[in-house]
Order: sequence, then structure tokens, then C-alpha cells
Amino acid sequence: MSESGDAAPATLAELISPLTESEFLDLLRRRELAYRPGSKGDRYAPFVGWAALRNMLASVTKARARNRVKVTKESDTIPPERWMTDGKVDPAKLDTFLAKGFSVVALRIEAYVPALAAVCNEIKTRLRERSFVGVIVTSGTGAGAFKVHFDPEDLVILQIEGTKRWQVFGPVVPNPLRDMPKQQLENPRPLLDEVLAPGDLLFVPGGHWHHCESGLSTSVHLGIFFFPPAGWHAINEAIHPLISDEMFRMPLSRLEGDANVATLEQEIKARAIEKIKSLQLHEFIARWHNGPIADAAD
Ligand SMILES: [Fe+2]
Repeated sequence: MSESGDAAPATLAELISPLTESEFLDLLRRRELAYRPGSKGDRYAPFVGWAALRNMLASVTKARARNRVKVTKESDTIPPERWMTDGKVDPAKLDTFLAKGFSVVALRIEAYVPALAAVCNEIKTRLRERSFVGVIVTSGTGAGAFKVHFDPEDLVILQIEGTKRWQVFGPVVPNPLRDMPKQQLENPRPLLDEVLAPGDLLFVPGGHWHHCESGLSTSVHLGIFFFPPAGWHAINEAIHPLISDEMFRMPLSRLEGDANVATLEQEIKARAIEKIKSLQLHEFIARWHNGPIADAAD
């Protein structure tokens, strides 16, 4: 809770204000970049500050921290051994790295913050999308956690403490997915250059290249990730059961003769087509939000 005793926003509508829900859903549908300065600077403060995050992280074990807690500067990541003590995250060591301009990144923090869990749950049940929350803490002027990159998920950024300069560049990678081939930013075109202050909201749709730098004081911001289903996920799920069919596990390099290769090719195609034809996109969309979330890279 904040000093004023205000509760954290626990619904999507409260979180995205001053945007209305229909404005936000429209931005989400169109994957359109949007910046909305907040009129109430401390409105996101009850979620989590650096002091509260320090306490949460202190109980996190090595196994749980894997892929979820990172200490990084411009995508240069410090191995966990250097910020853990006796198999647990050591907040004092994190402070030392923060003082050197590194960022602390913690993903999936909704597990520790009920108001964020409620928002993620609303995104899952109403929007039918997977969702999780990450927090990035940075101190020191000009420091950023990651080099210029894009995230495949749509991101609502909420600035909690301090300031952070966000630069967003095009050309945008349209409808990106985490498994797609690596992309390069060529002929960058500035789309946005703003210093976010506490209470500000920024919507960075998937595929928008970005870079962040913190201001003078410690900066804390949240990223709410929206992970929608795509046709690629549906096709993958539909054909995955074929691995249980021994025919799909035969070593192709050891088949004797072109005729055997041709026969197997026919059978493989027929069974794969049968699986793909059984795909029910409505059902896939309806159950997507209950599925696992791949650990996000950044
Ligand atoms: Fe990012």
C-alpha cells in the first residue's frame, strides 16, 4: 500500500485510465503505439516499489529465479552466482549492481502482487490472452537494461518511480512471434522519444523496436505483457500429437530406395493434412489463455 493508503488499480479499466476500455481495446486490435501522461503521479505506486521488490526477491531461490530474475546492462547479463548468496537472491548484491548502472529485471511478479494477479486474470478471461507482469529497476543516468530490441508481446508500460526515457523506432516488425527468425533494424525511423514520469502509461505493441534510459534517480516501471494466440500456435498444437505416431519418428536417411521414400511421403502428408483439417480455431482461441507462458527474453 502507498503512504496515502490508496489501493492499487485492480481492474484493467483502472489500470489504463485515462484511456477508456474501448480506446484501449482499439489500440490493442490495431497494435498502435500510444503514450498517455498520467495526471496522478503516485497511482501505480501501490503495486510495487523498489523497497517492496527487494523484500519479495529476498526469498526467491535459484531454481525459481531462473529466467525470471536478471541483472543486465545493455543486454550484458550478469550470472546469478554473482547476485545470490546461499542459493537465494541477495538484495544487497542487487543494490551494488544497481549502483553500477545495471538493471534488475523480475518477470512474473503477479504471483507476489494480488492486484496484478487480478489484472492478469481479467486479461485472460475477458480478452482470452495469456498475460504476465515484469518489473524493471534501474538507477544511474543513461543506463538501460537492453539494447535496441522489440518484444513479440504487446506491452503496457506503467512508470512507478523515477523517470525513464523511451525511444521507439520503426519500421515495425508486423505481428511478430517469439520463434520467428531474428530480425535486424535497418534504416531506423524515430516514432517516439519521451521521458516517462510516475503515473505515465505507454503502450508498446509487439514488433516496435525500443530502447530505454533511466534518469537521475532509481526508476521502476512495470510491463504488462499481452500474449495473443496466432495461427502458428494453432497449427503447432494441431500437429504436435503426430510425434506419438511411430511413422513420424522413422529415420528418413535409412529408408531404402526412392519408392519407399515416396510411399512414406504420401502417408506423412495424408496424416498431417488429416490433423490440420481437424483444427477448430474457435476452440483453440477459447482455451489459449490457460496455457503456459514461455519465459520472455526481455
Ligand atoms: Fe522490451
